[in-house]
Amino acid sequence: MSGQEQNWSVVKFGGTSVSSRENWDRIVEIIQRRLDEGYRVCMVHSALSGVSNLLQAIVERPGSGQIGKMVETVEDRYRSMAEELDLDGEKILNNDFDELERLSKGIDLLGEAGYRVEARLMALGELMATRLGAAFLKERGIDLDWLDVREYLHTIPQEHAGERARILSAVCDTSEDRDLQKQLQAKKSVVLTQGFVASDGEGKTVLLGRGGSDVSASYLAAKLGAERLEIWTDVPGMFSANPSQLPSARLLRKLSYEEAQEIATNGARVLHPRSIRPARRHGIPIHIRCTEHPELEGTVISSERVDDEALVKAIAVRDNVILVSMETLGMWQQVGFLADAFEVFKIYGLSIDLVSTSESNVTVSLDPGANTHFREIREDFVDDLRTLCRVSVIEGTAAVSLLGRHIRAILHQLGPAFEVFQEHHVYLLSQAANDLNFTFVVAADQADRLVRQLHEQVISQSGNLRSFGPTWVQMMGRESPDVTLPKVWWREKRDRLIDLAGEKGAAYVYDSKTIRETIKRLASLRPVDRIYYAMKANANKDVLGIIRDEGLGFECVSIGEVNEVLELFPDIDRDRILFTPNFAPREEYKKGLEEGVHVTLDNLFILKQWPELFEGRKLFLRIDPGQGRGHHKHVRTGGIESKFGIPVFQIGEVREIIDRIGATVKGLHAHLGSGIKDPEAWKQTALELAEVADELGTVEVLDVGGGLGVQENEMQGALDLDAFGTALEEFREAYPQFELWIEPGRYIVAGAGVLLARITQLKGKGNMQYVGVETGMNSFIRPALYGAHHTIVNLSKIDQPLKQLVNVVGPICESGDKLGIDRLFPESEEGDVVLIANTGAYGRVMSSTYNLRMPAEEVVI
Ligand code: LLP
Repeated sequence: MSGQEQNWSVVKFGGTSVSSRENWDRIVEIIQRRLDEGYRVCMVHSALSGVSNLLQAIVERPGSGQIGKMVETVEDRYRSMAEELDLDGEKILNNDFDELERLSKGIDLLGEAGYRVEARLMALGELMATRLGAAFLKERGIDLDWLDVREYLHTIPQEHAGERARILSAVCDTSEDRDLQKQLQAKKSVVLTQGFVASDGEGKTVLLGRGGSDVSASYLAAKLGAERLEIWTDVPGMFSANPSQLPSARLLRKLSYEEAQEIATNGARVLHPRSIRPARRHGIPIHIRCTEHPELEGTVISSERVDDEALVKAIAVRDNVILVSMETLGMWQQVGFLADAFEVFKIYGLSIDLVSTSESNVTVSLDPGANTHFREIREDFVDDLRTLCRVSVIEGTAAVSLLGRHIRAILHQLGPAFEVFQEHHVYLLSQAANDLNFTFVVAADQADRLVRQLHEQVISQSGNLRSFGPTWVQMMGRESPDVTLPKVWWREKRDRLIDLAGEKGAAYVYDSKTIRETIKRLASLRPVDRIYYAMKANANKDVLGIIRDEGLGFECVSIGEVNEVLELFPDIDRDRILFTPNFAPREEYKKGLEEGVHVTLDNLFILKQWPELFEGRKLFLRIDPGQGRGHHKHVRTGGIESKFGIPVFQIGEVREIIDRIGATVKGLHAHLGSGIKDPEAWKQTALELAEVADELGTVEVLDVGGGLGVQENEMQGALDLDAFGTALEEFREAYPQFELWIEPGRYIVAGAGVLLARITQLKGKGNMQYVGVETGMNSFIRPALYGAHHTIVNLSKIDQPLKQLVNVVGPICESGDKLGIDRLFPESEEGDVVLIANTGAYGRVMSSTYNLRMPAEEVVI
């Protein structure tokens, strides 16, 4: 009789699934349900969770004096599991305990374990666990046969594999196996056996590689011609991203084998990548289910076409990727370069993952998992490769992949997602030949932000396509793993903030201590001679007072800002005010000059049309070095698409006019944009300005602008201030003749400010929950304008579990009035105080009275 007619379901449970009594009670129900549905069940399971690691440690640490203790720990794990299951552990496991002790003692005495012994020792984890499992199921009335898998699952020789792989990472044939079908046909309707373990041609114990229980189950399913394969684990399926990093990750309801293979291979740890192929060969659907929540639908992997247009299914990250970049100048069009270079990789046993080539550069990535020996051979390898080309090795990168099908067909839709790369260095970009994978290799600290933005743009926005199920939080109804909040001032001052919101309603609160501390950090940077605070970021009078008190100057962009500073600080040295207008009327320049502050010109027009204003004056010129940077296109202020600055090609003409009217250029200024995190950016600006200064001859000061980026939420990377300082220091050393000024706004005030608002109403609409607060885009427009993602918490319930995903919205009549999308929130109620963090910059200053709703008041504490 063929396997198909026998209707087998192969059901695999992972380590966590078999390590508690509650789960075993669930397992009984799951098996019973399959029997009721008419299946024969082949159940496979792993060792108790953590045991394989303990056994591995015995192999790795003989002679440490610890072996006896480790053996005891393993035995105790099984004893207490037996106790939990009301079984007589000693009796059931007696022989295995003996074997465990014997093998471990041998390893300890010899000081090492051969691969054969290692396999036997590791196999005990599964053997012991399944003996307990079988005894428990029998007690609960399930009639079954316990099988030693080594009698049924045999591996095949691997031609090129070494001994280690043959014994510890063996493979099986995936054809239907009539003998096996016959053997199992004769058994009871449930058979229970071990994952991870098999036997080789000589009948000796071998293993299928770590995490190999999934693979065992898939082999058995293939050999039996099973109707279904079920992988029961501790997560409720495969997700569109890692839910512990991204709570808005969605369940993937249905995947093709190819897609699942791509996702598993690219780092999702739900399913062993090797377990897909055997099932695929026979068209056996794989169901991924959560043992703790058997009621959840999970993911189904099959050849069934999913009839919707969701092409990108998931975004995966692999960390610790190593890049090898080969500059091949002079090699262009030379035959055989790649062959020679790859030969060197082969000699050193390095397996290449991604490749990208241009005329003069070939860059490849090495997956660390497959190249664990890289560190040891790095030097020799690089030396050898150097005989062919210039080599650089870049570590600390991460590979972010868009996974799905026909990705090529939707590249044009990814446009907005690519904006995130303006501030990211993409080291390598690769589109897989199978068109299932599009990968970017970026600096490791950029990966999370990139995943979040890509996910929001290509998955969250694709709405309710059928291939996407609910989010992790919606399914599990509990906190997503590992969402932690940083230590910040507003946590410490929580009670005071809640009181303040009670008194004032919606309010911006600025913490003076934090402002002072930030200024001190900036002021300690040696290469910076002067700091002018860009007061457009926050012009609150008390905040300005603190900044003046700390000794900073002011960068003003309107005559209004200049007047405000003069009014607040009438005695201020005029040298401490830098006026940087753009397309302002003539009178503003006149007034600025009369007040004696530094005036910056950023257009040739001004000099040509109003030369009389500037006769004999010392001036600053704002230069456009031709390229902008920044967190969003609206804040990039360089390049021809930006209205700022004098292009470098006009400098000759500027110089002529300046000479004619007897003025001097005292300083050059450039500001490329806002929210820059690359610490080298300002040094680049300085170098470009220095070149222009050379042409002019009179320049004393280079002002390299503001734009220092901050973290708006804890997933973002921060600007490395020390690296910023070091880069400028390098410039200083090369060009000691110039004074260096900077003019940051955001960096000084952003983190010191929070916006508080009380919850007004709650609403549930289908899958979406809304939390309404008393103020919205009228107070804080950054989310609507730039898609900014600021940390938002329910301050009143800060320590309560985060249970739901919500949109935090304001009361303004615009659907864009959202302060936060897809935020993890606790159970909330009217009157709770919500806090939006890092809103000290470009918050209140950009507010309005739209809808005649007054924006949040400001308080400095
Ligand atoms: N200097 C000049 C000439 C500027 O135009 C700006 C900002 C700064 C300095 C200060 O940049 P900061 O260090 O604050 O990044 N509303 C946007 C930011 C606009 C920035 C405009 N210019 C936002 O909320 O992101």
